Order: sequence, then C-alpha cells, then structure tokens
Amino acid sequence: MVDEPRQSRAAAPILLFDSGIGGLTVLAELRKLLPQAPVIYAADHAGLPYGEKSEAEIAARVAGLLGLLAERYHPRLICIACNTASTIALGMVREVLRVPVVGTVPAIKPAAKMTRSGTIGLLGTAATVRQAYVDRLEAEFATGRRLLRHAAPELVGAAERKLRGEAVAPEAIAAAARGLRDQPGGEAIDTIVLACTHFPLLEPELAGAFGPGVRFVDGAAGIARRIAHLTAGQNFERQVPDCAVFTGSPESTAALAPALAHYGLEHCGAV
Ligand code: DGL
Repeated sequence: MVDEPRQSRAAAPILLFDSGIGGLTVLAELRKLLPQAPVIYAADHAGLPYGEKSEAEIAARVAGLLGLLAERYHPRLICIACNTASTIALGMVREVLRVPVVGTVPAIKPAAKMTRSGTIGLLGTAATVRQAYVDRLEAEFATGRRLLRHAAPELVGAAERKLRGEAVAPEAIAAAARGLRDQPGGEAIDTIVLACTHFPLLEPELAGAFGPGVRFVDGAAGIARRIAHLTAGQNFERQVPDCAVFTGSPESTAALAPALAHYGLEHCGAV
C-alpha cells in the first residue's frame, strides 16, 4: 500500500499517465476546468505501444509504474489517461493505491446518443478493441445500434510523430478509415468513437479521410469533468512548474519539448 501524501495538500499534483503523449488530449480538457491545478504528466515511452502488448504485460507495467509515481509525487488523484491501460488495469490499480484513480472509458454511451444512422465506428488499439469491458459498454449503452470496431495501431505512431513536428503519413489515416468503412455496413457510419487518447490529436486528418457527415467523440471532456468533481472544494497551489516525465531514452522525447510547452509542461527527464 502507498502512504497518504505528506506534502501540502494544495501543492499536491494531479498525475496523468499514458503510454505516450495521448494523455495530453485529456490534459487539454483538464486545463479548461482546473487551470490552477498542479499537474505531473507521466508517459511510459519505454513501453509504447501498449496496444500491441498482452494484458498481463500491460497490467504489470501500469501497476508497477503508478506505484512508483505515487510514492514519488504524492498525487491527490491519478488519471490513467489511456484507454488500453484503463480497460485492463484500472481495477487492479484501484486495489493497491489509496489515491483516487480515474480511468478512461471508450465514449460508446455518448456515441450511441449522437448517431442518427444507428451505425457507430470505434477506433482503438488492438488490446482495447478485444476487451470484454468494451463488450459490456456495447451491451449496456448501444443496444439497437451497430458498433463496428477496428484496431488502428498505426495511428499511435502517427500521433507521436505529429507532436514531434513530423508529417502525418496519409497511408496511416487512409488505412484506419478503410478498416471501418470496408466492414459490412461500414458505409453507414456517422459517428466514430476515438477510443485511444492518442487519436483526437489526428482528428483533422481523420475527418478529412471519413468525409463530411461523420462526427467524432472521445472521452477527454468527460474525464476532466470527473476529475473536477472528485477534487471539488480542494485548494490548488502550483508551487513548481508542471512537469512531464518519461520512461525511455531522452533522445526519443527531446523533440517533444515544444508540444509539451504548448500544454504548459516542462520536460523534467526520466521517471
Ligand atoms: N494512448 C493509449 C490509449 O488510449 C494507447 C497507445 C498505445 O498503444 O500505447 O489506448
């Protein structure tokens, strides 16, 4: 068990965790609601991509890293800003940490309300699209709707490269679009769940590939509201600049400095 934070509660950060830069899409929404909240952003680039790993590997990495990060930073709340990690490890992490933990859930419920054609597409990682958790969301919130799923691991790398200032490969976007459109009934998709926190970073490119009439939905704003709700009434005081920390080599993250600055984060080195 990890001890309760000992630092001043007002300075205690909210810790956002992802395998990479996808969680920045959650941070962007959190900044709108809680601009004064101190934040630590932690990315497991040494483990990226989670979507291609086994459930056991993901659970072990996420639980181990979050235990270490909780001891080091004494966060008031942890957000697993990663669909893959949340759908697999959220329950386990909540068991072992005393800090409140908010997860990321594929936005099937809002998508089911938004669709007019009744056909929803879902883009996620391979590990996310095969989760029973997604089956349960579909059964609970999308009855009477058709949900077509497609694993688009190439979008994770494309988003990572985009935030390093590199061009987005049109083939990666086209392959993801084909993966949904070419399924039986895929031509009727009018709503797409971006069930990986990396993917909203590519929404303009995806919108171009899917064409007009398709709307995208992700969980970031809902997660930010949940964090604001759980921390309502708490004091926030940013005593040091907000930091981003990474596993993996410094060379792989150096090019991210401008993007991190855009989200109000300093690159603070290794986990
Ligand atoms: N950002 C992660 C998610 O939301 C996935 C990226 C990865 O494959 O590591 O699922």
